[in-house]
Amino acid sequence: MASAPKPVLILGGSGAVGSRAVAALRRLQPELPIVIGARDIARANAVAQSAGNATALEVDLGRADLGVPAGATFSAVVTLLNDETLNSMKYAQTHGLPYVSFSDHLFEISPKVALYLQKPTSAPILFLGHALGGATTLSALHFARELRSIETLDVAVAIYDDDHGGPATNTDLERAGRVSPLLRKNGRWIWASGDDIERTVTAADGTKHRGNAFPLLDVVSLAAATDAPNVRFDIAVRSAASRPAGKRPSTEMIFEIDGVDADGKKRRVRHEVVDDEDLSTLSARGLAITVERLLGLAGGPPVPPGLYNPETILDPADVIQKLEAFGARIARDVQR
Ligand SMILES: NC(=O)c1ccc[n+]([C@@H]2O[C@H](COP(=O)([O-])OP(=O)(O)OC[C@H]3O[C@@H](n4cnc5c(N)ncnc54)[C@H](OP(=O)(O)O)[C@@H]3O)[C@@H](O)[C@H]2O)c1
Repeated sequence: MASAPKPVLILGGSGAVGSRAVAALRRLQPELPIVIGARDIARANAVAQSAGNATALEVDLGRADLGVPAGATFSAVVTLLNDETLNSMKYAQTHGLPYVSFSDHLFEISPKVALYLQKPTSAPILFLGHALGGATTLSALHFARELRSIETLDVAVAIYDDDHGGPATNTDLERAGRVSPLLRKNGRWIWASGDDIERTVTAADGTKHRGNAFPLLDVVSLAAATDAPNVRFDIAVRSAASRPAGKRPSTEMIFEIDGVDADGKKRRVRHEVVDDEDLSTLSARGLAITVERLLGLAGGPPVPPGLYNPETILDPADVIQKLEAFGARIARDVQR
């Protein structure tokens, strides 16, 4: 008889994104047990009850053992909070467990890279601070594959100004807003300033919004994967007042790509991925898709020890298919 799978420990699994990630993972993997780690055990219990096959655990990030009872075992540690102690990553390395780091901006990963380099064979370490839990980068790469080479890859996520996420998201976004965004321009990495910070983003309904380059990991993943000399990632924030009455915040990913197709012709294409759900829900889905891949429950065997970005373990076509199954609508080759 096959042994029961060990639970995934989701630190922050009771928050705005975490509770949705637990639900998304439950939908993808009905049999996978989940342990929700948090401080407020009542809130974590409520999320566990609603998910089923899940329990709550009070954790203490100040402790090397995270306050986990002796003898408890997990299949992975997923951290949906800014763990300034790094104890959750050290715990995963000590126990040889896959680790997902969900809250890093691109200027924050170096302590974890250094920790990984100390013990490179101990565990798979995945950076997933990317927009929408990696869904944006994987979608971009799906479309990018259709061209032989890419000159410019402009990626944007459009959200509404009343789509707040939880308190931890707000704190993290404020921190990121104090740092110059990184982008690739004419083959060089620059910390953007002046006119380079902003661009106009056209939403799927044709309305125009101010986009601001944002220091998420998408820009480095996309540049590494495509070698495009011009890559940027922007967030455009739309006014909730402009939304039809009674409609909830929706989320759009917008991809504008200049390149050369298989016949050697220059092409400029625009694709959109639109979903009626909010930022937290889409981020949770991206995370769930990534966790099942990391554990070897979809798309291939378990990921071995190493340092990963989502595009190094996921197939873009699979991700697009899963996003569509969750409810995303794709519009290809649109002119706006
Ligand atoms: N990569 C992405 O796509 C993406 C997208 C959105 C958000 N994020 C990140 O995801 C994280 C969660 O965002 P959110 O909107 O869900 O925030 P949230 O609603 O404030 O949730 C935070 C969660 O972390 C737990 N927590 C906070 N501090 C803790 C501590 N010291 N020890 C144990 N548990 C702790 C909270 O539970 P207790 O209060 O009970 O402890 C709660 O479950 C943020 O770091 C955000 O930046 C990433």
